[in-house]
Amino acid sequence: MLDPRPSLYLRLGGYDALAAFVDDLLSRAISDPRIGVYWKGTSRDSLRRSRQLALDFLCASMGGPAIYLGRDMKTLHDGMGISDADWEVLMRHARKTLTSLAQRECSVTELCEPFPISVPAISRHLRVLESAGLITRRKAGRVHYCRMRPNELQHAADWMVQQRAFWYQQLDSLARYLDEEEP
Ligand code: HEM
Repeated sequence: MLDPRPSLYLRLGGYDALAAFVDDLLSRAISDPRIGVYWKGTSRDSLRRSRQLALDFLCASMGGPAIYLGRDMKTLHDGMGISDADWEVLMRHARKTLTSLAQRECSVTELCEPFPISVPAISRHLRVLESAGLITRRKAGRVHYCRMRPNELQHAADWMVQQRAFWYQQLDSLARYLDEEEP
């Protein structure tokens, strides 16, 4: 049966979002003294080619309208001597890339793209988030831009962790009470 949800490619923001991810991650990797050596001496043209292939690979793997024409991952990285420690370094950069991209400004139209609900409905959600201080909004001409406020979101996340602990405790006591009540 067909999956009715939009693809991971769309939910992550489509081509432009994945391109921004690959560009940011690649520039972090190349300039890192621990793993940058893998790209040492690579011409700008070869780098552009690898960047495009990595982007095609991600788009295609996430259900986007792209075809990956490069070699398979194992064959192409085989013999480079990539260690677990190198992989860890790349993954740390990937997390930093995601954090920095998540904090960038985004138009309301971009935000709406992955969701199967109307623009006015999304705008109503955004107004609630704005009045709670979780995002900021600015208008340039007819375009509205939003940006997350990570510090405020951290307060919300801390509050949810506390609430979760409280409710789990309550539900555990209720379960114990009901067990005791059972004949
Ligand atoms: C620590 C991990 C990694 C290292 C050190 C590494 C290193 C490299 C290097 C040195 C090249 C060749 C550059 C050139 O000759 O132009 C390359 C190519 C490539 N890498 Fe990686 N890579 C890593 C992880 C990944 C990951 C996670 C992906 C998946 C998105 C990926 C996708 C590609 C692609 C698609 C190419 C080009 C393929 C081709 O030329 O046919 N790499 N990588």
